Order: sequence, then C-alpha cells, then structure tokens
Amino acid sequence: MNKYNWGIIGAGNIARQFAEDFKFLSQASLKAVASRSADRASSFAKKFDIPVWYDSWDGMAGDPDVDIVYVATHHPFHFENTRSCLEAGKAVLCEKPFTMNKRELDILVRIAREKKVFLMEAIWTRFLPSTKKVLEFKESGELGKLLNIYADFGFRIEFDPKHRLYDPAIGGGALLDIGIYPVFLSLLMAGPPAKFHATARFVSTGVDHSCNMIFEHADEVVSSLDCTVMAKSPTEANLLFEKGWIRMESMWLTPGPITIHRIGQKPKRVKFREPGNGYHYEAAEVMRCLDQGLAESPSLPLDFSLNLMEILDAVRDRCGIRYVQDDT
Ligand SMILES: NC(=O)c1ccc[n+]([C@@H]2O[C@H](COP(=O)([O-])OP(=O)(O)OC[C@H]3O[C@@H](n4cnc5c(N)ncnc54)[C@H](OP(=O)(O)O)[C@@H]3O)[C@@H](O)[C@H]2O)c1
Repeated sequence: MNKYNWGIIGAGNIARQFAEDFKFLSQASLKAVASRSADRASSFAKKFDIPVWYDSWDGMAGDPDVDIVYVATHHPFHFENTRSCLEAGKAVLCEKPFTMNKRELDILVRIAREKKVFLMEAIWTRFLPSTKKVLEFKESGELGKLLNIYADFGFRIEFDPKHRLYDPAIGGGALLDIGIYPVFLSLLMAGPPAKFHATARFVSTGVDHSCNMIFEHADEVVSSLDCTVMAKSPTEANLLFEKGWIRMESMWLTPGPITIHRIGQKPKRVKFREPGNGYHYEAAEVMRCLDQGLAESPSLPLDFSLNLMEILDAVRDRCGIRYVQDDT
C-alpha cells in the first residue's frame, strides 16, 4: 500500500467531517487545505494538524506535495476546482453533485480520461457496508426479483434566502443536494429509468424545496423517490422483492443497520461495525484504486456519475429547476 498526501478545497461542514475520519486511514496524510478565507484555512489546518494552508482555492492545484484533492466547496464551484486539479495531474474526489449539469461533467470526464488521472464523485453511501450488503442481496436473487424501490431524504431548514440550500447562486435546491441520494440508490439497484414522472415545488428564490419522482426501469421495476428541505421525512429506503423486503433504516444514506424481511420468517436486523462518520470508506476506495493503477473506481465509475447527472438534468428539465450554469 502506497502513502498518499491529501489536500482539501473548501473548509466547511463536510470538509470537517471528512477530515475527522482521517484517523482511520493509515495510508493517508492531510497535507494542505485551501479556503477563500485565511482565518478559516489556518484554523482548519490547526484543528487537523495540517502543515500547509492556502487563502485561495487556486493554491491547491500548484502544490507539488499533494497527490489527491478532495473538493468540498458548494456545487457551482466543483467544476472549476476539479478542473484545475485534474489539469495539474492530481487525483480528485469531488463532492456530490459532481457538477451543476452534464455539460460540465462531460468536460471533467474528458480531461480525466485524456490525462489518465483518477476522478470520482464523493457519493460516500456507495461505499458504506449497508449499501454493499443490500446490493449483494439484490444480486444474489435470494429474495426473488426486485419489484419496487421506495427511498426518501428530508429535513427541515427554515426558509432563509441566504442559506446555501435556498440560494440559487450557491447551488440551492433539494434535488441536487439531497434528492441525488434516492436517485443514486435507484440507479445502483435498478439502472436508469426508461420513463419517469416528476414534480417539484419552489420557494421564492426560485429553487426547489421538494421534488417527487417515479421512475419506471427495465424489467418493470418502479422507484418512488422523494426529497424535501421543508419537513423531516422518514429518510428510509425499502426495497421490495417477490419474497420479502429489505429496509435500510432511517438516515439510510449514512452508516446504519438494515433489516431483511423474508416472508414467513422473523426479520433479521444486520448491524455493521462502523467507526467514525463513514467518510473513510470512500477515501480508502480512492487509494485502493490508485494502488492498483486505476483511473476510475470499478464500484463508482465515471459512466455511473454521467448517468446520474443525465437523470438529474432530465428531472430538472421536466420540473423547471434551472441554474445559470444551464444557460452558458
Ligand atoms: N457527502 C455528504 O454527506 C455531504 C454532506 C453535506 C454536504 N455535502 C456537499 O458538500 C458540499 C459543501 O457542503 P457543506 O455543507 O460543507 O457547505 P458549507 O459548510 O456551507 O460550505 C462549504 C464551503 O463552501 C464555501 N462557501 C461557503 N459559502 C460560500 C459562498 N457564499 N460562496 C462561495 N463559496 C462559499 C466555503 O469555502 P471556503 O472555506 O473556501 O470559504 C465553505 O467552506 C456541497 O456540494 C454539498 O452537496 C456532502
């Protein structure tokens, strides 16, 4: 196993949670952090014992000691932050949603593939033991054919036009921020939809506070997917098969237990030993791929993210969810 130096762009909420999990990664050191604010960069560096900090995002791409960059800024900045690091030959793990639309993502994927540089979307849920177990179950066919997927993600944030979830300039809106998780799960378990229905509701800043979707996949699998920032919702994922169902318990997208219900048998709850916040799994995947000389993760390849973005674009188009990035 090689050792890798990581850099983080953006010193906010998710960057902090990600950095906290580095104690579980013996292969990795946090080498640099970049923020638009010298104060935020230096205090983040101090908290996590990071030797180098930059008071602009641009510093990271030029740092010769950084091997892998984790992009943790708001979605509209993912494109430029990721592009500059890929151009500099650095591997990149970029927060979800990868970009604001597929047009931007196509460019990043082209650069990564041309330069043969590693690139992956930070959909951490893909690497959690619970998700892996559910996928294994589905693929084993033990519960028969998959029929339906029900997944939601909702919490309440009081309306404030300056909050990141309500401000269109920094990528506000429920679908791109949290709806991406139920859409991700349906794509992972059932592939892209052949047909879909979708509706969104909006706040006065023009971003969607809620989005509801029904996907019709191949083999007559149907997904019902919901997201909202207006109310706390169960935030469960249930997969219905011919011979039972699997329930990913509340906050299913984070580390947590699942329950397997086989018809006629006592439900079996499966718990996983999960240290930390759960972000070390995706970071470990990046390093595992680099150790093997891979430029994409076989578990979360760029074609998957392109598909995911194409679906999000189509849902947005159907519901009238638009951002300035769609006009350029
Ligand atoms: N994987 C997950 O579980 C998860 C959870 C939450 C969020 N996310 C994703 O992570 C990204 C960041 O979310 P977050 O919750 O960490 O956000 P956050 O704490 O509000 O901000 C993250 C960074 O964005 C920059 N930023 C803040 N306000 C800005 C503004 N008005 N204009 C330009 N940049 C601004 C700041 O970078 P500087 O420090 O450089 O100023 C800040 O440190 C989002 O894309 C989100 O979808 C992922």
